[in-house]
Amino acid sequence: MSALDTLITDAAPIPFLDLVEPHRAREEEFVAAFRRALRSAAFVGGPEVEGFEREFAAYVGTQHAIGVANGTDSLRFIFLSLGIKPGDEVITASHTFIATSEAISQAGGRPVFVDIDPITMTLDPAAVAAAIGPRTVGIVPVHLYGQTADMDPLLALAAKHHLWIVEDAAQAHGARYRGRSAGTMGVAGSFSFYPGKNLGSVGEGGAVTTNDPRVLEGVRRLREHGQREKYVHVSEGYNGRLHAIQAAVLRIKLQDLDAATAGRQRVARWYQEALGDIGELSLPQVASWAEHVWHLYVVRTPVREKLRRVLTAARIGAGLHYPVPLHRQEAYAHLGYAEGALPITERTAAELLSLPMFPTLSEDQVGRVVQVVRAFFGR
Ligand SMILES: Cc1ncc(COP(=O)(O)O)c(C=O)c1O
Repeated sequence: MSALDTLITDAAPIPFLDLVEPHRAREEEFVAAFRRALRSAAFVGGPEVEGFEREFAAYVGTQHAIGVANGTDSLRFIFLSLGIKPGDEVITASHTFIATSEAISQAGGRPVFVDIDPITMTLDPAAVAAAIGPRTVGIVPVHLYGQTADMDPLLALAAKHHLWIVEDAAQAHGARYRGRSAGTMGVAGSFSFYPGKNLGSVGEGGAVTTNDPRVLEGVRRLREHGQREKYVHVSEGYNGRLHAIQAAVLRIKLQDLDAATAGRQRVARWYQEALGDIGELSLPQVASWAEHVWHLYVVRTPVREKLRRVLTAARIGAGLHYPVPLHRQEAYAHLGYAEGALPITERTAAELLSLPMFPTLSEDQVGRVVQVVRAFFGR
């Protein structure tokens, strides 16, 4: 029996993501928040939502945060507030979750996908520059896996061509770019509080961060059926409000976010130290400008499928973020991107693999993941 077989046989499961353990310490506070909501009958909006909006804006460092139902509504409401018109083009990454581009299309725009930087896997500013045309109205950098895009060149391009920048910060709560917080650098930032996110609710939630009065007014109106004040609908809108119970949970979890981020950073350090010498495995790199909050720990290897099978056999959870780039999805066939159109994105998609990453992952658990990965590569 090989060393690898032994490791697999002895396996105790390690989840890709543990959403039970991180909630244990504050369970009574979550239950008390639920009881408060039941007894005050404040379920949607109300003081918990307003309190969370104030606290999240202060955490991120914007004048305003507006709670919404999820991180897709937050993007869609920002784009609609900015007045996207049919045919307007918005440049973004193909290497992201479909919510980014879906929101552009649903607001009436047309996503223009460009390639990524091979180190950070975020928008390549040179590719963005090459894609700017007469119909371009905005750029949406996605701060992927917990690391921001290279914002200075993007901000310079936006200023030069009179474009707006909306930051998709769904995976980057608390991440920094040269000291500046994700969600503060564009006209607006969009956050998701899906349970697995760095700041996760116990259902769905999202927020827009902004200093811009047009975005503030627009998002508040759109989340509430176009209502400016009760019974006054100045436009159609959506049912896109944040629930009070989610806001109450988020207020509690926001207090622990920096500690949770430190936990993620510790896990990332363990992986980096233990896997750095394997030539066939590329580890995630932290750009010189970045304070990385490690939403995901994504490695790359040409033998991704084999490694994934071995991890699965060893009962170690692994994910793919994202195996089919958006420009090659059937949903975007009408945009006409051929295979090979975005070569770095396509190679990355074929090689990436997300290893277990969450704040309470123990040194022993990381050690076992490392042992299996090392044994797979014959180390
Ligand atoms: C990069 C990115 N953008 C947007 C979203 C959408 O957020 P939500 O699932 O809350 O709608 C997500 C998460 O799912 C995401 O990862």
